[in-house]
Amino acid sequence: MNKIFSVGLLIFLITNALQAQQKSYPLTFDSKKYQTKTLTFEGKSFEVRAYENIVYVSNPVDTTYQKINIYIPEAYFQGKSINGYTAKTAPIFYPNKVGGYMPAKPGTTEPDRMGMMPPLNGEVPANNAPKPDAKPQTNQAPQVSTVVAALANGYVVASAGARGRTTKDTNGIYTGKAPAGLVDLKAGIRYLKFNDKRMPGDAKKIISNGTSAGGAMSALLGATGNNKDYEPYLKEIGAAKATDDVFAVSAYCPITNLDHADMAYEWQFYGINSYKKGGPFGGGNSQAQTLSQEQINVSEQLKKAFPAYLNSLQLQDKNGHILSLDETGNGSFKELVKTYVIASAQKALDNGKDLKDFKFLTIVNNKVAAIDFDAYLNYLGRQKTPPAFDALDVSTPENMLFGTKTIDKQHFTDFSLKNSTVNVNKADAAIIKTMNPMYYVGQAKTTTSKNWRIRHGEKDKDTGLAISIMLGTFLENKGYNVNLELPWETTHSGDYDLKELFQWIDELCK
Ligand code: DHB
Repeated sequence: MNKIFSVGLLIFLITNALQAQQKSYPLTFDSKKYQTKTLTFEGKSFEVRAYENIVYVSNPVDTTYQKINIYIPEAYFQGKSINGYTAKTAPIFYPNKVGGYMPAKPGTTEPDRMGMMPPLNGEVPANNAPKPDAKPQTNQAPQVSTVVAALANGYVVASAGARGRTTKDTNGIYTGKAPAGLVDLKAGIRYLKFNDKRMPGDAKKIISNGTSAGGAMSALLGATGNNKDYEPYLKEIGAAKATDDVFAVSAYCPITNLDHADMAYEWQFYGINSYKKGGPFGGGNSQAQTLSQEQINVSEQLKKAFPAYLNSLQLQDKNGHILSLDETGNGSFKELVKTYVIASAQKALDNGKDLKDFKFLTIVNNKVAAIDFDAYLNYLGRQKTPPAFDALDVSTPENMLFGTKTIDKQHFTDFSLKNSTVNVNKADAAIIKTMNPMYYVGQAKTTTSKNWRIRHGEKDKDTGLAISIMLGTFLENKGYNVNLELPWETTHSGDYDLKELFQWIDELCK
């Protein structure tokens, strides 16, 4: 009996070991496995070595998404320099393609949804944002791949795919719920650092980039570097043994701070009762609709809850004065938000844009002197119904993000759990925490990125303006280098000002 048992056990162990061996992917970068590609940017052709579809973890859950594409200018293998960079010094640009918290494949040299750079004829136009009623740029065919533009500027480009809220395995188990997508992008960073000596580019100079949910991922990579909360997940997928902090963050319209985003949205939009859904993840048609009385009540409650959260952050202005809001939602933080919109208009004006049709601005002697904020919000318009992110019927992308292996959608705020119209739970607090950069910035045993460039379009209503401004101010108060602007007349989009982004990166890296 004992003998049979032992033999059985042995067979079991050997089979397991063999299976584990079969599934294990090498983490050592093979510099000889590439294809040469000739790319063209602004009329100039150049060659790169394309290392595509490398599985970046040793125990992948999903080899459709847990892959990285790495592109390296051929010049760096010939001892040449580009834009003042060499094989040793070139920064590594790390754009992700995450949108809507969906799974994302690694970026390529082909233009795609997030490669939204406008057509270039040498210069970035002073104002490249769409016309007031133009469709969001996210729906337009992009002209230039972000990857190609970055390569032309002398960067090594690495883009990792990531699991997302709809990813399932063959047994129907969800494998991409929070924080899987972020964990994957961290594993991609670890792969690059682990292999730093085996490829051109400086892994101490990784700049992450993303838009919307991808902007949130970029901000999270920057905020949470090396934090232990992600370690069990990274271990499970066999991430390379290396650190995962990044040098700089570029985040376009980050859909982040999700557990406070409903309040921030209603603080901004309470009182605006008509809405137009829109955008690829906005859901529904784009016809004007009106909030129900119940929805207006929800809006009022959320709006009233926001000041307590904002005040709890103890944010400070540039002179060290506490930024606050009173019970009615007015106060110095609101004034700060206005200064960002005014600065946006001023920049457009300085670039020669005619702003006389924007009646909510007071312009005196070519200076934007004041803004009628309510009139500005009316022009902006509401896009989402309250609660904008943790919907009472768990119908949003974010509800899906916070599902589990077996549950597709969950709540992630107490408010929506309490007022839920369906019978579902709230996600684990520990998981909700992993998706919010505000909990990690500057924390002990965390390497938060020193450099941040955050953009949220002045015409972007996918989330509240307060979200990026709270994050930027929080970072600034803790001594990080922050460059935050709300580009004029820009809707929910990204990569529209790559020349300026690359200039910012070059100033940091040279
Ligand atoms: C995106 C947009 C949203 O409005 C949202 O709630 C989540 C993600 C996006 O474009 O990625």
